[in-house]
Amino acid sequence: MKTLDLIKSRRSIMPNQYNDSVIENNDINLILEAANWAPTHKKTEPWRYKVLTNQTKDDFGKFLGKKYKESSQKFSNFKYNHLIEKAKKSSVIILICMQRDLNESIPEWEEIASVSMSVQNMWLMATDLKIGAYWSSTKFINSIDEFIPLDKGESCLGIFYMGKYDDQTLFRSPRPIDEKVKWFK
Ligand SMILES: Cc1cc2nc3c(=O)[nH]c(=O)nc-3n(C[C@H](O)[C@H](O)[C@H](O)COP(=O)(O)O)c2cc1C
Repeated sequence: MKTLDLIKSRRSIMPNQYNDSVIENNDINLILEAANWAPTHKKTEPWRYKVLTNQTKDDFGKFLGKKYKESSQKFSNFKYNHLIEKAKKSSVIILICMQRDLNESIPEWEEIASVSMSVQNMWLMATDLKIGAYWSSTKFINSIDEFIPLDKGESCLGIFYMGKYDDQTLFRSPRPIDEKVKWFK
C-alpha cells in the first residue's frame, strides 16, 4: 500500500466488529516488530507490551468487569458485560506499557510520545495485515498491576484490542489540515 493510503485506512475497529478468526502468532510478531522501530530520545525505547491470548485474555476481561463493579457508583449490567465481552470478542489483547528510565533523564512527555509513536507503528502494521485494532484508555489501566506484574517504573497507557474483521466501509473525515496549520514565510 502507498503510505498515505495506509495511514488513511487505519481505523479504530471495535471488538463488536471482530469475527471469530484467530490472529496468527506470525502476524502478532510482525506487529510487535513494527512497534519496536519507533523513534526514541536517548534510545530509551520505553515501550513495553504484554500480549494476552486465550484464557488470560478472557480473564483480563473479567478483571476489568470486577474493577468496574467495585468502583462504580451507578452499576450498569450492560457496561459490566461489555467489558467482559470486549475481551472475549478480541483475538488478542496487547497492554500498552511504558518503562520510565529509572534516572528519569528524559521528561515523561517524551517517553509517552515515543510509546504513542510505537503504537501508531503497530496500528499501521495491523492495518496492512487487515487486522482491526483500537486503543482503549480506561481508568482501570491504573490497576493493571493487580492483574499482571509490572516492573519498577513501568506503567500502563492503554489496552490495544485486536481482532480480524470482515470488509466494510469505515468512513472518517478529519477536519481539514489547513485549520491546524499556520505557515510563516
Ligand atoms: C490515546 C488514545 C486513547 C483512546 N482511548 C479510547 C477509549 O478509551 N475509548 C474509545 O472508544 N476510543 C478510544 N480511542 C480511539 C479514538 O476514539 C479514535 O482513534 C478516534 O475516534 C478516531 O477514529 P479512528 O481511530 O478510526 O481514526 C483512543 C485513541 C487514542 C489515540
